[in-house]
Amino acid sequence: MAKGKSCLVLPFLFGLVGALIVGWWLFPELLYSKKTQPIRFSHKVHVEDQGMSCDECHSYREDGSFAGIPTTEQCAECHSEVQGDDPAEKKFVEEYVEKGKEVPWLIYQKQPDNVFFSHIAHKGIKCTTCHPDVGHMDTPPVYYEDRISGYSKQTMKMWQCERCHARRGASNACYVCHK
Ligand code: HEC
Ligand code: HEC
Ligand code: HEC
Ligand code: HEC
Ligand code: HEC
Repeated sequence: MAKGKSCLVLPFLFGLVGALIVGWWLFPELLYSKKTQPIRFSHKVHVEDQGMSCDECHSYREDGSFAGIPTTEQCAECHSEVQGDDPAEKKFVEEYVEKGKEVPWLIYQKQPDNVFFSHIAHKGIKCTTCHPDVGHMDTPPVYYEDRISGYSKQTMKMWQCERCHARRGASNACYVCHK
């Protein structure tokens, strides 16, 4: 009796384990390709060691639009020459500052073109409500690119925007976010 039962249980377990491997490990591996930032920029070094505030680098322009990530020229105020012995800084100075090139940073939260998002409309909401705590990380997180759509896996989904808008009494009319 007991022997007959285990004959059925074992193939079932193998099948289950196989399905879990495909579903949880192989499928995401196939769907997303991993990318790393062109420069291993450490927020920790700048924010904690150098005491810089977020808005020294992520500021608003005069018209209220969000400037995003600083240009190479802004970074060059401190990095016109290599100042330490970190290989990432050397690479940054030699490949971008000296050649006057912008770094093609990967934007984890990048939204599709048909979505309108404004940081100033969300002023007062903590950065970490919508972003992982990138501002204190020593190594930038891995970037996962959806191989089919080309978008970042970390992009905020529509339901996440709408859930907060509903809770806080902001509008959920389509035209608010889709122009
Ligand atoms: C010295 C300039 C500098 C300072 C100061 C700085 N950042 Fe950044 N930040 C960057 C650069 C460069 C990137 C792009 C590389 C990366 O994602 O690590 C970035 C990326 C980010 C991103 C990722 C956005 C996305 O979706 O890709 C977030 C979130 C962020 N910073 C938050 C913060 C916060 C919060 C602080 C303050 C605690 C801060 N930063 C201070 C330069 C800076
Ligand atoms: C206010 C001055 C200042 C600004 C502005 C600044 N940095 Fe730095 N950065 C420093 C200092 C100081 C260090 C530490 C140098 C050392 O001793 O290795 C550093 C270290 C680095 C390093 C090596 C350590 C690490 O992994 O972060 C990189 C790469 C770097 N900076 C890139 C940037 C980029 C890119 C920008 C613009 C987004 C920027 N820095 C803006 C002062 C600055
Ligand atoms: C209500 C949610 C929300 C809050 C709060 C928020 N962000 Fe963002 N952030 C986003 C979204 C969404 C994007 C992508 C926008 C796009 O692609 O049009 C983004 C993009 C960014 C980027 C990349 C900009 C670029 O060049 O494309 C940086 C840097 C950033 N945020 C930093 C911050 C910082 C620093 C704070 C806090 C002061 C903050 N964010 C607060 C949702 C938020
Ligand atoms: C954590 C809460 C929260 C999240 C998440 C959030 N929002 Fe908002 N959003 C608000 C609030 C609150 C307001 C209203 C601000 C006001 O009226 O002053 C607002 C306002 C806006 C406005 C301006 C509306 C107007 O009439 O000026 C736009 C556009 C917008 N959000 C788009 C988005 C998009 C797109 C996302 C997702 C990528 C998003 N929001 C995620 C809380 C949020
Ligand atoms: C609060 C902001 C917000 C509102 C309101 C909103 N959307 Fe979106 N929508 C987004 C964001 C962000 C995305 C991109 C991320 C995603 O695909 O979830 C998106 C994506 C979409 C997409 C593409 C989906 C896909 O998978 O490619 C469609 C279609 C869409 N929205 C239709 C609508 C319609 C119709 C309404 C009104 C009933 C609406 N949206 C209201 C933020 C919003």
